[in-house]
Amino acid sequence: MKKILITGGAGFIGSHVVRLFVNKYPNYQIVNLDKLTYAGNLANLKDIENQPNYKFIKGDIVDAAFIDQLFEEHKFDGVVHLAAESHVDRSITNPLEFVMTNVIGTVNLLNSARNQWKDNFSTHRFYHVSTDEVYGSLGETGLFTETTGYDPHSPYSASKASSDHFVRAYHDTYGLNAVISNCSNNYGSYHFPEKLIPLSIYNIKNNKSIPIYGKGENIRDWLWVEDHARAIDLIYHNAKAGVTYNIGGHNEWTNIDLIHLLCKIMDKKLNRVEGESAKLITYVKDRAGHDLRYAIDSSKLQKELGWTPSLQFEEGLEKTVDWYLTNEEWLNNVTSGDYKKYYQQQYVKR
Ligand code: NAD
Ligand code: TYD
Repeated sequence: MKKILITGGAGFIGSHVVRLFVNKYPNYQIVNLDKLTYAGNLANLKDIENQPNYKFIKGDIVDAAFIDQLFEEHKFDGVVHLAAESHVDRSITNPLEFVMTNVIGTVNLLNSARNQWKDNFSTHRFYHVSTDEVYGSLGETGLFTETTGYDPHSPYSASKASSDHFVRAYHDTYGLNAVISNCSNNYGSYHFPEKLIPLSIYNIKNNKSIPIYGKGENIRDWLWVEDHARAIDLIYHNAKAGVTYNIGGHNEWTNIDLIHLLCKIMDKKLNRVEGESAKLITYVKDRAGHDLRYAIDSSKLQKELGWTPSLQFEEGLEKTVDWYLTNEEWLNNVTSGDYKKYYQQQYVKR
């Protein structure tokens, strides 16, 4: 019986990773540690919350004494670390919160892991989940590989870059059995509606404007969240210590083209005349320091561990829309309170 700590398991990607591990490995004990910030939602895990191999613990990775105590009590065999502040726009408003959770929180986990596992690093894995945003912005050509230099531009990506450096330092300095993956933009179910795709689905459904930053020409490489979770499972179990893998969908879209495709799907699903949803598109003030283009070369992961993305984007986006339209209650619950106040501060008309 292996005991694995998954941090941030009540968030978007974390909930998919927890679900996959709980269902696929009935002989593992999965402990989900999450602070339940505005982005953490236990409703994301309703379908597995009563499984005998699953346990939720509410707690903050910034609290070093608590994390030490948790490691002491549970004797984890491994960690999959996803807990983070994850929204670029929030990082521009409040960078320190990103330093606290993403940097200090990660170092706290590394320290506790090092203390607990120092006599046998090789059988204890520390998996750090990171982002392609650490590599900065691409021009019109080229792809991020695992050897691309770090060049973060937002407080979010700077904090993730810093946490990646600490994870590598603990591998190189102390011999911690650490692995890192850097993934492109995810989409799918349980995505908090402050990010481009779920926010746009919510707004189209409610006939509200769809805010497009700048000219909508920025490019992101979108990956189905369940394909990311499958990659994490593969890497957690098969990667050599100290290795990094890039994960991405080979699926680049400008924001405006993506939103036009989404509007077309929504018109069909909501029985609207084609072109009706697209009338909601509104250009707003650009994000400060807005990275132009992200695109991942995932050939190392494909060649070494046999991973491939499973879904075409058009199919995945339609599935995502269906999920949000079917799960109205989930969407309404998360779009209340704190989220609304933040929303008003964030969107200033151009
Ligand atoms: P999310 O914001 O949906 O979820 C983050 C979770 O972490 C939430 O449940 C939150 O409550 C929890 N959390 C935040 N601060 C905490 C703290 N101090 N202590 C304990 N728990 C805390 O984020 P996500 O989109 O699911 O991203 C998960 C991870 O994957 C992050 O590390 C992110 O950098 C990385 N990532 C995300 C994407 C993406 O497209 N969303 C792409 C690549 C990598
Ligand atoms: P986002 O979903 O915040 O992910 P990230 O910034 O981590 O890539 O944004 C995706 C792209 O969409 C990014 O170029 C910013 C843009 N965007 C908008 O144009 N309008 C919005 O309201 C949001 C949230 C994002």
